[in-house]
Amino acid sequence: MTDLNNRRVLVVGASGGLGAPLARALAAAGATVVLHGRDPDRLAAVGLDGAEIHTGDLRDPAVPAALIAAAAEGGLDGVVIASGVVAFGPVADVTDDLVEELMAVNFTGPRQLIRAALGTLDAGGFVVSISAIVAEMPTAGMSAYSASKAALSAFTVSARIEARRRRIRVIDARPPHTETGLAGRPIAGVAPHLAEGLAPETVAARIVRAVLDDETELPSAAFTS
Ligand SMILES: NC(=O)c1ccc[n+]([C@@H]2O[C@H](COP(=O)([O-])OP(=O)(O)OC[C@H]3O[C@@H](n4cnc5c(N)ncnc54)[C@H](OP(=O)(O)O)[C@@H]3O)[C@@H](O)[C@H]2O)c1
Repeated sequence: MTDLNNRRVLVVGASGGLGAPLARALAAAGATVVLHGRDPDRLAAVGLDGAEIHTGDLRDPAVPAALIAAAAEGGLDGVVIASGVVAFGPVADVTDDLVEELMAVNFTGPRQLIRAALGTLDAGGFVVSISAIVAEMPTAGMSAYSASKAALSAFTVSARIEARRRRIRVIDARPPHTETGLAGRPIAGVAPHLAEGLAPETVAARIVRAVLDDETELPSAAFTS
């Protein structure tokens, strides 16, 4: 079992539909949660009064390492990466600019965060990186999003194997569709009709349980079984 009491955990994307309930669930489990997002007002709305707050856009290549370094000033035991964007549309609509944007936010930023976290965390530390079910099952009309998540998932699983020797857990969480509103704010395209998704609190609770129970894998099936 991992005890989160008095352990400092950075939640990246804490202003989001998944990040906010994750931050609250980690705090409820005893962690001292450090919040990251782009908008201080949205971070304040998470409701963790007194929580340390950091802001920055992950598309800026200087941000990820600086964020880990700043959060680590108070000590750092875990990092949960819950940031990301989505895009929809057929392959014909997938422009170079769109791919660049998706890869910057969904792959490059998290990759840099994982690299910096592994250079900072001690034995017993953990990283949770949220890719998505589309990393397992690429989906029509979501080719570029699926590709960005598959890249992140592959990187995270490789990092997990490397970090194991140092007793640092790196978890690739691949949740199914979740009712955070993400599908309604794509950076391109329009969402297809999607079946009712999981509740964000359910997904957040499952991720925190994985941290507490020393799990190392969170495939999509783990969220519905
Ligand atoms: N919802 C789903 O169905 C689902 C399913 C599987 C996986 N996921 C993944 O789970 C993660 C969270 O999704 P969500 O549903 O919670 O989405 P969300 O509600 O839109 O939250 C996204 C978060 O990412 C942050 N973010 C976006 N662009 C950023 C940038 N350039 N720099 C820094 N932060 C940025 C947002 O910050 P701001 O508040 O500043 O915008 C927000 O905190 C994503 O990686 C998503 O792909 C979601």
